[in-house]
Amino acid sequence: MSSFWSLWIIVLTTIMLIGTVWILFANRKTKNTGPDATTGHVYDGIEEYDNPLPAWWFYLFVITIVYSIGYLIAYPGMGSFKGVLGWTQINQYEKQVAKAEQKYGAIFAQYRDMPVEQVIQDGKALKMGQRMFANNCAQCHGSDARGSYGFPNLTDGDWLYGGSPEQIKTTLIQGRSGVMPAWAGPLGEEGIVNVSNYVLSLNGRAVDADSAAAGQEKFAMFCTSCHGADGTGNIALGAPNLTNNIWLYGGSPGLVQRTLRNGRNGQMPSHEKILSEDKIHLLTAYVYSLSQTPAEQE
Ligand code: HEC
Ligand code: HEC
Repeated sequence: MSSFWSLWIIVLTTIMLIGTVWILFANRKTKNTGPDATTGHVYDGIEEYDNPLPAWWFYLFVITIVYSIGYLIAYPGMGSFKGVLGWTQINQYEKQVAKAEQKYGAIFAQYRDMPVEQVIQDGKALKMGQRMFANNCAQCHGSDARGSYGFPNLTDGDWLYGGSPEQIKTTLIQGRSGVMPAWAGPLGEEGIVNVSNYVLSLNGRAVDADSAAAGQEKFAMFCTSCHGADGTGNIALGAPNLTNNIWLYGGSPGLVQRTLRNGRNGQMPSHEKILSEDKIHLLTAYVYSLSQTPAEQE
């Protein structure tokens, strides 16, 4: 804030305060001029009594004025003056976070050295994981972790980057970035249709056989380096299995063609700086548990 606007606010606030005090005291009457004395104003036959303000009202007003002066000294309010207490929204937030860390840190820490396979046996730990999932992950993966268009389902046992506790934890800590190049250039529009027909045929879908055969050649040329010779994918690259009818970006001919034409670039953000190690451990267990108990998920 420039010093002009700071001064502007200080001057305005001070004038207002002084003005309020002036109005209060200038109009103050202490003596009662008699029960029926009026000010002489008449409006529509209604007259105004000339009585002093009630004492409780008057003193309440004085208290609010004194309070506001105290407040403006202690807290930010007078332009860019920061207040003698040094309060800011940020340091209040940081204090609260530190307090919560102290209070709840120990609860998270008790699972630190417990292997994930064991943590998932602990109902309380999973409850905590679920709550953290709702706060940190559900906006992308859905509150039931089943994902949606572009956001993988975490309950189905099909993994882009692997579903072992270590692999899940690495995903959470480092984040992931899926790179599927665009093929409109190398394949051309006909090639896109042919290769998408071939990919659909890998999923048992009825497609034009000649077109799929032509697509198979291109697939061997351009796609197997990432998706594997049989199209079952590669978790080291996050290249999905293209044969199991589980789709990140949709399995209709139109959507598969769009994936091939434009490429895809899914981003799973790194949570290393957002969540403590102990929290990530609990979240790993929660995510791991989702595909371990498919019967309960249904
Ligand atoms: C901003 C959206 C976003 C948030 C928030 C997010 N994710 Fe993700 N996540 C993604 C996307 C997108 C992918 C897929 C990345 C790709 O396509 O390569 C992904 C991938 C994953 C994977 C890998 C799945 C697989 O099949 O290998 C896991 C596990 C995962 N997320 C868990 C989480 C957890 C747990 C949280 C909360 C701490 C979280 N995600 C928060 C968007 C998000
Ligand atoms: C450089 C490695 C690489 C190559 C080469 C590659 N892909 Fe991919 N492909 C990926 C990755 C990684 C993803 C996941 C993208 C994401 O997570 O956002 C993907 C996603 C896809 C999808 C979406 C799957 C779904 O579940 O929605 C299809 C379909 C696909 N690829 C087909 C192909 C075809 C066909 C070719 C050859 C023309 C090909 N890919 C070549 C890495 C590759």
